[in-house]
Amino acid sequence: MINKGRVFSGARPTGRQHLGNYLGAVQNYVALQNDYDCIYSIVDLHALTTLETTLDLKQNTLEMALDWLAAGIDPERSIIFIQSHVPEVAELHTILSMVTPLGKLTELPTFKDKIREQPNNINYGLVGYPVLMTADIVLYKANVVPVGVDQAPHLEFAREIVRSFNFRYGTDVLIEPEMKVTKIPKVLGIDGQKKMSKSLNNHIELAATPEETQKRVMMMVTDPARKLRSDPGDPDVCNVYTMHEIFSKLEEVEMINRECRIAGIGCVDCKKIFAKNLNDHLAPFRERRAKFSQKPQEVLDILYEGGKRARKIAEGTMREVRNAVGFP
Ligand code: AMP
Ligand code: TRP
Repeated sequence: MINKGRVFSGARPTGRQHLGNYLGAVQNYVALQNDYDCIYSIVDLHALTTLETTLDLKQNTLEMALDWLAAGIDPERSIIFIQSHVPEVAELHTILSMVTPLGKLTELPTFKDKIREQPNNINYGLVGYPVLMTADIVLYKANVVPVGVDQAPHLEFAREIVRSFNFRYGTDVLIEPEMKVTKIPKVLGIDGQKKMSKSLNNHIELAATPEETQKRVMMMVTDPARKLRSDPGDPDVCNVYTMHEIFSKLEEVEMINRECRIAGIGCVDCKKIFAKNLNDHLAPFRERRAKFSQKPQEVLDILYEGGKRARKIAEGTMREVRNAVGFP
């Protein structure tokens, strides 16, 4: 391993991961293990900011861990753990909150979205969400943070908080993290319009059965201007085509590009080919997942062990932070 530094990322325990999580983030979690010292966290404290993620925390945590392990996060090389097992993050969150301007937090697009989505549950934690996320990252002195592009405002904000802390306390204890996105930083849902997300029910789960996967793929919206089988289509505006570019062989991609434009291939056949290729691609993942799911205690042990290792790092940083602040 060429050690280029430390990677940290987290995701709320939303249960089974979907193609958006995989193509936008988890693929990078796995790839970065070759060159970095990686830490991946299931951020259960963040989950408490929304009601739907507060339910079934344990089950959703386990499901997510299964997906991460099956995708190739290797607990021998990387730390995988549950955020709340390292309570230092809450202390750091409090300290960082005092160098964070409130006005900027409430201006963040992600906060404004939440106000619209859950007008009856605008809680204090929602406002502080990016501060807690910053605490996550800097507690482990991460240099690189792999996330989907929706997290860009949070990452930029994290960098500001770091600068603000270091400036106020005349220190360089905290490190400004860099964001890292994949080739597909925003994966669209089966509606072909919005970001793939579980809450919009426009997602395709990695762990779905081949039949379920095929059913969801057949629901995908293609080029909206192509109404009839005989209409020529435009692959450049078709989300199914984008997926072919990721999951299909080059000859097939070229054939679809050509035939779609002259109505030589219809959307139904095009989607059937994609469903098959996607299922083929996910087969080894599903096999590994099935093996892990037979040993839930082993998976929990991996998370507990990861938590212990993460906590050691966190304790070191907190000693430096308390010193920098000047606590007696
Ligand atoms: P979430 O499930 O929203 O907590 O997201 C977990 C991780 O997956 C974050 O890094 C997100 O940026 C990423 N992610 C979620 N949905 C998508 C998507 N549709 N496209 C790209 N990245 C995504
Ligand atoms: N905010 C991220 C999301 O909604 C989750 C998250 C929490 C995170 N802490 C983090 C991501 C630290 C990267 C680094 O997906």
